[in-house]
Amino acid sequence: GDNVLLLAHKHGIDLEGACEASLACSTCHVYVSAAHFDKLPEPDEREDDMLDMAPMLQENSRLGCQII
Ligand code: FES
Repeated sequence: GDNVLLLAHKHGIDLEGACEASLACSTCHVYVSAAHFDKLPEPDEREDDMLDMAPMLQENSRLGCQII
């Protein structure tokens, strides 16, 4: 299925996604609601490394292009 970055673009939501899901940026950073956050698989190490560079990091931060 589509990842959250692609879904955002399909629905006209302005989420950047500069590296087009290749885990080389953090511009697809999103906050996931509490109801959904725990249902997601854990981020892998590469996502975590990129997330560490995202501005305004929160406990519920993820990279949109990695949420499927
Ligand atoms: Fe670059 Fe998601 S679009 S990591």
